[in-house]
Amino acid sequence: MSLFGRLRTVVLLAAMMVVMVVKASQDYGDALTKSILFFEGQRSGKLPSRQRMTWRKDSALKDGFQIGVDLVGGYYDAGDNVKFNFPMAFSTTMLAWSVLEFGKDMGADLPRALDAIRWGTDYFLKATSIPGFVFAQVGEPYGDHNCWERPEDMDTPRNPYAVSKQFPGSEVSAEIAAALAASSMVFKHVDLEYSARLLKRARMVFEFAETYRGSYNDALGPWVCPFYCDFSGYEDELIWGATWLFKATTDPTYSNYVVENVHKLEKSVMRNVNGLAYSSVGGSFAEFGWDSKNAGINVLASKHATTLSFLLVVYSRYLKQANRVVHCNNVVASPARLVQVAKGQVDYILGSNPLNMSYMVGYGKKFPQRIHHRGSSLPSVGQHPKQIGCKDGSVYFNSSNPNPNMLTGAVVGGPDIKDSYEDSRVDFVQSEPTTYINAPFVGVLAYFKSHPWS
Ligand SMILES: *[C@@H]1O[C@H](CO)[C@@H](O)[C@H](O)[C@H]1NC(C)=O
Ligand SMILES: *[C@@H]1O[C@H](CO)[C@@H](O)[C@H](O)[C@H]1NC(C)=O
Repeated sequence: MSLFGRLRTVVLLAAMMVVMVVKASQDYGDALTKSILFFEGQRSGKLPSRQRMTWRKDSALKDGFQIGVDLVGGYYDAGDNVKFNFPMAFSTTMLAWSVLEFGKDMGADLPRALDAIRWGTDYFLKATSIPGFVFAQVGEPYGDHNCWERPEDMDTPRNPYAVSKQFPGSEVSAEIAAALAASSMVFKHVDLEYSARLLKRARMVFEFAETYRGSYNDALGPWVCPFYCDFSGYEDELIWGATWLFKATTDPTYSNYVVENVHKLEKSVMRNVNGLAYSSVGGSFAEFGWDSKNAGINVLASKHATTLSFLLVVYSRYLKQANRVVHCNNVVASPARLVQVAKGQVDYILGSNPLNMSYMVGYGKKFPQRIHHRGSSLPSVGQHPKQIGCKDGSVYFNSSNPNPNMLTGAVVGGPDIKDSYEDSRVDFVQSEPTTYINAPFVGVLAYFKSHPWS
């Protein structure tokens, strides 16, 4: 090659690198690592020696013991200390889906992602260990919300709540079945015995959910509503559970179930969202979140480019979170456009926004300091071993100081529609992180980590 040729190559490469540097606006690998680390901060129960978020300690070591059942473990849902199994199961399903789609792109974070899933599934095996019952929650929510206490100090009632044949809860049961089935696929090549146990339990729990139909809103009333009231009906979770069971087993019983029931769901979806033109099948936008699985069913049950659809689904989740609605009636967006839109959203969350602020704790230069989270906002047990009682936490809750413990990787509710963010502990809508915001984000970050220039 001539010198001129070489020079031209170098210039070309340099130009490409500039373009790449400009386009890779965020460090998705760093964000991915942190998004998974967050789950360690939400752990309930006996913490393992490989716990990295060390300001957290063992907590709630007797959950379930009052009725002779071991319900130790699982995740605290958000900034409080209740274990709400319905959104917890959704988060576990999403973590599993993230690993199934993007696990190969996760690198050193993959074992940690598996840990995060297993922390959920170990608990769900306990929550479904008695045939005919599914535990839906641990922790009396009113007592819990009335206190600002560290999980390690909790002295509020840790009541367990279960659904049963007589008082069924198909949405919570079917979502747990989905989590177990999806996770069984994740562990198939990692721990075959564990994977088989998860799958066996998933079948059993799905059968229970389907045979004894009803909503946990009715069975458990004020213990679950208004916290995680299931507004969208339980049919979507039953189909979602069957879809995951079909993926995990290829047993036609489950695909037949999906086909037979999806039309009913479609009608009910149309009725429920009166005015918002979308259908539950066919690939258009639909609701997706802890309480509504329609869009997820679309993606799983269809032959889309799944990877891209995952992004779309998760993107719709964020739109819902931000109370923004996209009307894309009669608009056909290209897959590239969808990825671009998803990337814009991810970048916004990570700091490409008018405030130049990352909404992930510990990521970037500027991020939320006063998240609505009991453990993060109170001095750690290591710093302050003495118990901090129910109302003794108020002084920390009201303080304008930054939180003393960093809940690394927590993605908060985020700014209002005008892009303003108060960074106030009191404003939980903006400043509270949840497991079900972080879980789908894990997969999206893994995608952009491996496709930073897309
Ligand atoms: C955000 O960053 C941009 C580009 O660096 C800058 O022009 C703008 O003033 C910053 N905005 C704030 C609120 O700091
Ligand atoms: C402090 O927080 C508690 C809630 O924990 C609230 O009821 C009280 O009004 C607050 N006090 C002040 C002075 O803001």
